Amino acid sequence: MHKIRKAVFPVAGFGTRFLPATKAMPKELMPIVDKPLIQYAAEEAIAAGIDTLIFVTGRNKRAIEDHFDSNQELEAALLAKGKAEQADRVRNILPKGVECIFVRQPEQLGLGHAVLCAERVVSNDPFAVLLADDFLTYGGAGITSDLAEAFGRSGKIQLSVMEVDGPDISKYGVVAPSEVPGGVAGLIEKPDAVDAPSNLASIGRYVLTPDIFDILRNQPAGSGGEIQLADAINTQAQRGDVEAVRLNGLRFDCGSVDGYLDAIMHVAEQRRRG
Ligand code: UTP
Repeated sequence: MHKIRKAVFPVAGFGTRFLPATKAMPKELMPIVDKPLIQYAAEEAIAAGIDTLIFVTGRNKRAIEDHFDSNQELEAALLAKGKAEQADRVRNILPKGVECIFVRQPEQLGLGHAVLCAERVVSNDPFAVLLADDFLTYGGAGITSDLAEAFGRSGKIQLSVMEVDGPDISKYGVVAPSEVPGGVAGLIEKPDAVDAPSNLASIGRYVLTPDIFDILRNQPAGSGGEIQLADAINTQAQRGDVEAVRLNGLRFDCGSVDGYLDAIMHVAEQRRRG
């Protein structure tokens, strides 16, 4: 079965909930203590065996490029001051053999449209998608690794899901389970809580197949007037092509200020304990 070697990171959103912090900087560069969200997500992808990182950027593309680029001047300055550990931290942001590719989303037309912008680079391969503002803790090699393994077994599209009880379910894409264990019959974007087909919420990690590009290209705007990734996955689910994998860990919604604060407090607490 096809190995997943490419990951798409949509980082072109406006991040309006974090203004003014996100006026000149993508929200995915905001740090959880001393490491930006996007680096946690890149490390998760690399741990899953992915070696091609595709960033779909907007107007603030430079800062993300600079973060993943080497900075020999900084490294040399740190080494000259005897700060070898800090120099290592700068050098080891990406292991050897991992390549970064940057594509542009010319207009912020939604997450589905951002994924479509990566079509030419993804080409005809299955690929992972990671939303770096979903900050995850996990056991093992990470949820992207779990999704890639599940894809290796069945060849089907993989969604990561977690249980959300109560009215908050209406903030998510919600899975309509099929009769097959782990099977997904539909994905409903932000339903009213009373209409939610289950308590299984789709979170920001996916393994997708390239047939999604044709669906996205021909899809009308959905919830919020945006081209929604969930709507395209819903079309694939109705064809019986989608499965769900449960998150083995915690998820913090770092697209919201409260979730971001909780993530920082969680990581800070763990660091203090050592
Ligand atoms: P969000 O729905 O959180 O939107 O995007 P946002 O613009 O980033 O933030 P708010 O709601 O204005 O505060 C979910 C993910 O999809 C990306 C974002 O960068 C984020 O990773 N995205 C969203 C794009 O890349 N392009 C888009 O057009 C929309």
